[in-house]
Amino acid sequence: MNETIISESVLNGAYFFAAILFIFSLIGLSKQESAEDGLHYGIAGMVIALIATVLNPDVTNVQYILIAMVIGGLIGTRLALKVEMTQMPELVAMLHSFVGLAAMAVGFNSYLDHGQMQGMILNIHLVEVCLGIFIGAVTFTGSIVAFGKLRGIFSSKSLMLPHRHKLNLIAGLVSIGLMIYFVQQEGHMNALLVMTVIALVFGWHLVASIGGADMPVVVSMLNSYSGWAAAAAGFMLGNDLLIVTGALVGSSGAILSYIMCKAMNRSFISVIAGGFGTNVVVNTDQDYGEYTETNAVDVAELLKNAKTVMITPGYGMAVAQAQYPVYEMTKRLIDRGIKVRFGIHPVAGRLPGHMNVLLAEAKVPYDIVMEMDEVNDDFPETDVVLVIGANDTVNPSALDDPNSPIAGMPVLEVWNAKHVIGFKRSMNPGYAGVQNPLFFKDNTSMLFGDAKASVDDIVKAL
Ligand code: TAP
Repeated sequence: MNETIISESVLNGAYFFAAILFIFSLIGLSKQESAEDGLHYGIAGMVIALIATVLNPDVTNVQYILIAMVIGGLIGTRLALKVEMTQMPELVAMLHSFVGLAAMAVGFNSYLDHGQMQGMILNIHLVEVCLGIFIGAVTFTGSIVAFGKLRGIFSSKSLMLPHRHKLNLIAGLVSIGLMIYFVQQEGHMNALLVMTVIALVFGWHLVASIGGADMPVVVSMLNSYSGWAAAAAGFMLGNDLLIVTGALVGSSGAILSYIMCKAMNRSFISVIAGGFGTNVVVNTDQDYGEYTETNAVDVAELLKNAKTVMITPGYGMAVAQAQYPVYEMTKRLIDRGIKVRFGIHPVAGRLPGHMNVLLAEAKVPYDIVMEMDEVNDDFPETDVVLVIGANDTVNPSALDDPNSPIAGMPVLEVWNAKHVIGFKRSMNPGYAGVQNPLFFKDNTSMLFGDAKASVDDIVKAL
């Protein structure tokens, strides 16, 4: 019945159009101003891809697809409505695990159902099966561990098995050997099963041995893996759109991982090898001196007398949902003729672009939201810096303490400003678990309390 609904050429046309929309979506999403358009392109592309797939003449048992789509759609909608912005990386990690699982399922299905293939065609198909299952299995367990670490189910510390690099290397080499054997034997089931188990353990170990502070890179790396897993599934299913989309996700995830590594001054290989923070000694007994406390009324007074103010938000602003009063305060300061800007660290918060999303949500104009590189030289001319719930991203030890776990990470050099106010609830460390000497500096005062309540108080005092 489907043949009468859609022809092969219409299907290919629809896939092509959807692929173009996905590319436009990525272009749109790369800038805040065009992000909403990018989202709409993506939705349109996905709707076209889904309709075309359901109407594909090769697809039988459409009713199962529709049932799965309704169930998946309901679960997805519920999750998307419920999820907090701060839980987004966990959700993304969980979704990646589904992609990995799906790629494994497609791989086993293609293996069991390879029809009358022979010779070179069969060999190519078997290699696709092996690669698809391998990448899918690594993505599946790796994403589960990333989810567990971000949710706090597993320890965020890196798992340090003895000879872990050698173990990874051996797992990789044995998997290649099994793949060759599998193809030579025209599909040896046991070889495939052993390789799958190795890949599952390999994925688990790979992410378990990466420390908490490198999780942003891991999530985007898994994003990339899930893209390649989808592309591999596309090859097995002979679905061009899945190949193109998988490659787009795979390469954009890899580029994002690279950009984040650059932002944290890490080499991609050292992150993947789980080396970060492993060879350093954290001196917990170090005496940082005394810190100074302040209150909302004094901070308001300081702000009133300032000419230039920089706000550097971090994870705490997201937890407190302080972006709305922060913008309220910003507007009042701008009305007084004070120059106010935001300095955003590339890995502030818990996901790429976290702070930008929150500020856009509160309708903060894009032209006062600057990237770290755009403002880092301006701190000496800044009168007051408000560090709202940020910690690691403003930690001077990254630059002056080679033993710090975050040594070498570029940070917002807020301490060069005349006055710095740290908004926190306590002197607890940030995500990387290291104390921040900034909070003990002479030009820094601490405003303790929930960031939203503190900013509300400042707004009242203004
Ligand atoms: P963090 O270093 O995580 O520090 C956040 C600070 O916010 C904490 O010190 C905490 O101190 C404070 N805080 C928490 N809740 C608060 C509240 N309700 N009110 C006021 N303060 C509150 O933040 P950051 O500077 O944004 O750095 C991000 C870190 O996360 C980096 O190490 C980065 O590598 C890592 N990371 C980033 C990402 C991405 S892609 N952005 C993903 C995963 C991990 P108190 O407890 O004392 O209040």
